[in-house]
Amino acid sequence: MTHELTASRLASASSNATASTGAGDAAGDAWWRDAVIYQVYVRSFADSDGDGVGDLRGVREHLPHLARLGVDAVWLTPFYVSPQADGGYDVADYRAVDPLFGDLSDADALVTAAHALGLRVIVDVVPNHTSAEHPWFRAALRDPAARARYHFRPGRGASGELPPNDWESVFGGPAWTRLPDGDWYLHLFAPEQPDLNWDHPEVAEEFASVLRFWLDLGIDGFRVDVAHGMVKAPGLPDIGHGAQATLIGTEPLPFFDQDAVHEIHRSWRRLLDSYGGGRIGVAEAWAPTSERLALYVRPDELHQAFNFRFLNCPWDPARMRTVIDESLAATASVGAPTTWVLSNHDVVRHRTRYGSLDRARAAALLMLALPGSAYVYQGEELGLPEVTDLPDAARRDPAFLRTAGQDGLRDGCRVPLPWAGTEPPYGFGPGGAWLPQPAGWGDLSVAAQTGDPHSTLELYRAALELRRAMPGLGAPEAGPLTWLPAPEGVLLFTRPGFACTLNTRPAPVELPAPGRPVLSSAPVETDGRTVRLPTDSCTWWAM
Ligand code: GLC
Repeated sequence: MTHELTASRLASASSNATASTGAGDAAGDAWWRDAVIYQVYVRSFADSDGDGVGDLRGVREHLPHLARLGVDAVWLTPFYVSPQADGGYDVADYRAVDPLFGDLSDADALVTAAHALGLRVIVDVVPNHTSAEHPWFRAALRDPAARARYHFRPGRGASGELPPNDWESVFGGPAWTRLPDGDWYLHLFAPEQPDLNWDHPEVAEEFASVLRFWLDLGIDGFRVDVAHGMVKAPGLPDIGHGAQATLIGTEPLPFFDQDAVHEIHRSWRRLLDSYGGGRIGVAEAWAPTSERLALYVRPDELHQAFNFRFLNCPWDPARMRTVIDESLAATASVGAPTTWVLSNHDVVRHRTRYGSLDRARAAALLMLALPGSAYVYQGEELGLPEVTDLPDAARRDPAFLRTAGQDGLRDGCRVPLPWAGTEPPYGFGPGGAWLPQPAGWGDLSVAAQTGDPHSTLELYRAALELRRAMPGLGAPEAGPLTWLPAPEGVLLFTRPGFACTLNTRPAPVELPAPGRPVLSSAPVETDGRTVRLPTDSCTWWAM
């Protein structure tokens, strides 16, 4: 018998299973070990007041979408008071909500509403740098005696006209800006984001207090921005060779992944643990190897670190397998679960990176089958592509502006979500949208995809429902991941009670059915003994 699998049939097939209802009843403090965490880029999620910019009330109103999707937690990108030089990653007041996004009562209401739906809430904390509008930096500008909380240095050259060292900004250009009085200050990102000096005791004290402020408000954890960057090598030494951008994450650098940074994370872990209730820290960390990255998730440090090697892996099964194996081995060596991520607000959406929706859907099922925690970036559940033709005038990414358009492709993944309707702003809000949305996105909206068994949204919903029902999916404690022999271009692995196949060959491939198919990113044909896997497809099997 030949049959076609669809997400909706499988969703109904799995509805008898004992699906849990969310974080509220998840396994207590260890909820994060296999959690699916949904990244909300607040500015682009949903706008409640018609100014074209997403806000906290918009997030709250759309929480039912996330509960129905079946994620465990929501990570909110920065919504604090900020001049928005870098989409809010330039914070001027760490304890207040920017009026653009609402106020503290909106944050409070959002956390309460999320918890009522069984969703945990993680917020961003940005400790590597402040905004240039932060009171500390404003004081430093006025008074050289108030500069010790940042990295100020005299310049080099006869009259100090050259930067103090050769470091470059991640966003292009030198990492130093000179003040009219002659001093230079360090900014690994935009000049509007001066780097803090974590050797100054007030910096650590202030951030401990900021963490407590949000923990007291009830949040469940922090995504730690640039968690590898807070400590700089003593003396701020030159790097000595160019092309720094290509060295980030691949080679030791005097401003990233310094050993002393782990002391900060240890102190934060103690603070998180003192609150109980499974509060977590997630490192946005770039390290030269998986082993170095695993140091951030040692038992007394943060709970998770984003696995950017998985995100950066091309559509190549051999390399995917290597990355999966190395990631699992590295985190196992410190007893932490691995994380998996395909897209976020800083990279080209994976549908576009991989070149097709078929591959994006297959990659999502692969990611969601792996043991550990997975991060879903808003809109990937709709199969959104990168928007590649934004007019330059609309772009806001400081990297785009600082590199004369050479870099800074980050606006194209930040285009506001389509919720419903056939015309922009597609239900994003009662006004417009801060970045123009493409024509044709009505077909990709949440409303258009809901109930369509072939839609990407229903695929994600079915996948997340199965993930809750089958421990062999996700839960690292369920048992090992074992690779089985497969034709070239095909990956086949098993976990207890479960198997996963991925076919990346340019043609369908036939192989013995590893079990009973329960979900597939594309229709598979099976007679029970053999299966024909379509090109660029991923299938889940019960064994
Ligand atoms: C992180 C954020 C990115 C931001 C940068 C500087 O990499 O994800 O969006 O630009 O930090 O804060």
